[in-house]
Parts: sequence; structure tokens; C-alpha cells
Amino acid sequence: MITRVKTIDPSTIQFSSDDIEDPQVHVTDPVTLSILKEAAKLLTEDQVIAVPTETVYGLASNALSPIAIKKIYSVKDRPSDNPLIVHVSSLKMLRSLLPPKENSNIGEIPLIYEQIIKNFWPGPLTILLPKSLLIPSEVTCGQSTVAMRFPSHPITRALISLCGFPLAAPSANASGRPSPTLASHVLMDLNGKISLIIDGGQCNHGVESTVFDAIGSQAPVILRPGGLTFESLRRMPGMENIRIYNKDFVDKKLEMVPTTPGMKYRHYSPNAQVILVDVCDKHKSHDIMKREIRQMGENGERAIGILATRTSYVTSNEENGKKNGKIISSDDHLFSNVKSNSRGTIKIIEYTLGDSTHPEQIAKELFKGLRYLDERNVDCIIVEGIPEKEEGLAIMNRLRKAASKIIGE
Ligand code: TXA
Ligand code: MG
Repeated sequence: MITRVKTIDPSTIQFSSDDIEDPQVHVTDPVTLSILKEAAKLLTEDQVIAVPTETVYGLASNALSPIAIKKIYSVKDRPSDNPLIVHVSSLKMLRSLLPPKENSNIGEIPLIYEQIIKNFWPGPLTILLPKSLLIPSEVTCGQSTVAMRFPSHPITRALISLCGFPLAAPSANASGRPSPTLASHVLMDLNGKISLIIDGGQCNHGVESTVFDAIGSQAPVILRPGGLTFESLRRMPGMENIRIYNKDFVDKKLEMVPTTPGMKYRHYSPNAQVILVDVCDKHKSHDIMKREIRQMGENGERAIGILATRTSYVTSNEENGKKNGKIISSDDHLFSNVKSNSRGTIKIIEYTLGDSTHPEQIAKELFKGLRYLDERNVDCIIVEGIPEKEEGLAIMNRLRKAASKIIGE
């Protein structure tokens, strides 16, 4: 199969109003319209395509077609017991997918979600809802709930509207790899496996949506931290006691099923070994990083990637921020003088994610940075932890899953 990449400028798509009940889409640009129509046709024919969302690129197909859903699992090589998120483009569409009320063919959104939807949709939030018979069991893998999301990315919103049916979409990476935040990442993982990738530029959030359950026995609980922060959710009425799975508590039964995102399966792993240094004191943290680099040199590893979570480890100001992907040789880099006793100099490649005072910037660059260093064939990637505040919570969650070695306090 030939994989074509077609670019859409998201600013060529507009919506009638802020109303999310049944918004109307306006596309004036003929090129945008023709790509969207072509994509909708492929989806109507049960094909799988990649689309940009505000979190990460998604691998989309018709959520109501078991044939189309099965293709998602085979393209990604995804374990068949890991359920998918269903994406909608209006509350009208959402209601039509919920278990119908008596004497009606539409369902009711649980009251507990009302304010949350009003405040955070469209956006990087996925909520668990009761599953109706309309949703194929291939989507939910036998769960009684279905994960639903109303994305804010204009391309995906417009595409769902044009299709008139919801789209199931996991992240568009090969299973186990870091999620894609650029169309080129999708091409790298899935070239030849899908017919179309819509390129809408770099994803804004860079980490996946927050998966939130307000109706289960442990509710309210964040099952997966993501683009919408814990702090934002906790500010909502009735959410004062919201907990974070795996941080505030764990549950033996939940551990056994893959519905708690990332619990059962390996995630976000680049080819290189990832070492996470999660130590608060900066000097102690840097000493540990130097020790690890030296150690790797002793072990015969030659190229080491550093994902910088401080503006950069370059000490002179003018060099700051200009080092991405460059081999570090200058004397003013914190790690340039680290040498192993037995084998000499080690090649260090730094990719600056941002500064921990702006976790939203780090989130946006995180998967891109992991993939960038991986493409440069580094033997190992070292990254310094950041505080688990705001987007920092999702970042640390992803880093812990990517890491094969974690050095804590
Ligand atoms: O931002 C996102 O959420 C992206 C974009 C494409 O929308 N999608 C995404 O999908 O990250 P995926 O499949 O990579 O992750 C979805 C997670 C899975 O880990 C899955 O276990 C969980 O959501 N999930 C799906 N249905 C669930 C359910 N009924 N109960 C609990 N967790 C569920
Ligand atoms: Mg994923």
C-alpha cells in the first residue's frame, strides 16, 4: 500500500459558534475541502487513516464498524484487549451513542460530567461513559464502559462532522513506540500500512488526553494523566476528592486488565535505553548524570542523548537553546568534560525540551525529543525529572514508562 501525506492548514476550517451541541463546520478553501472529502470517503469504506489531534496524531477508523476497528489493531499491532477511545464532534452525536432512555432513541449524559464537559470540551479530556449496543465490543474489549472524547483540533472535528459517524482512534504509533506528534513520526512507524496521513503540523499538547472516570466504583479518578491537568479538574464542583490512579492508590483488579492505561503494556519506548534521574537537588542530580555518563563510557557506549528539562545544560547564555541535536563539544556544556577512564570521550547529543518552569512546553516536545535522539542512534538517553505539577504529572508518567532505569532520591 502506498501511504500518501496530504497537508491541511487548520486555519482554513471554522465552526459556526462556541455551541458544542450541534456545531456547523465551514470550509471555504477548496483544497482543504477536497482532502477532507477524500478522507471521509476512505473512512466510510472502513479504511484506517492518520489524523492530527490537539494531543497526538490518531489512527482513525469508523467506530461503529467492527471490520474497520479490527484494522486499527492489526495496523498498530496493538494487543486485542486494549480498548480504544471514541471521538465525537458534537454532544448530539455523543447522546446518540449512549444507552437510550425509555421511549427514546437517545441517551443521557450523566449529570456528574455536565460542568466538566461545559468547561473542557472540545479538548484533551477523555471520559468513561456507559457503553450501548451501538458500540462494537471490539472497541471496548468487553468493558461495560466506553471512553469518549470531543477533540478540539479543527481537522479532526471537521472530519468527524463530514463523516457523520464517530471515529475510534488510538495514538498513531506502532504499538509500544512513543506517540507521534508530527506527521513524519506516523510515516516512520506506519509507512505502507495506511493509505493516508493528514498533516496538520505539530500537535499542540504533545501528550495524550487525560482519561477520567466519574462513574466507576473508584470515581472520581484520573486513570491516565494527560493534556488536561489534575489541577484544572479538581477545581470543578464535586471534584475536590479526585484521585490519580497509581499515584494515590492502586487496585489489584484494575491492575489485571489493560483498561488502566499503560499498566499492562510497555509504552513510549524508544530503541535506546532511557535513564530517568528523578532527584530534586540540582547539583546532586547533575552529579548522578555525570556518573551515569561516565559509567556508560566504561561499558563501551559511545553516543549518549540528553533530553534537557532545563533550558539547556550549556552554561554560556548565547549558546542557550541553540544546541538541539548538535554534538556537544564546547567546554561550556555541563557534560562535555565527562570522560570515561578506559575509553576516552563520549559523544553527547542534547535535545532541549524546554524548562521545567514551563511544563506545557516540555510536554509538547517530549515524544518528538525521544524520537529525535532515537533516530540519531544514541545508545542511551538521560533525562532529568521535573516536579509533578500541572503538565509535569503527565510528563513524569510517560517518562517513568519509557525508562528502563529510574534513579530516585
Ligand atoms: O489523546 C488521546 O487520547 C489520543 C488521541 C488520538 O485522541 N488517543 C490515545 O489513544 O491516546 P490510546 O489508544 O493510545 O490510549 C487510550 C487509552 C488506552 O490506554 C486504553 O486502555 C484507555 O484509553 N481506555 C480506552 N477505553 C477504556 C475504558 N473503557 N476504560 C478504561 N480505559 C480505557
Ligand atoms: Mg497510545
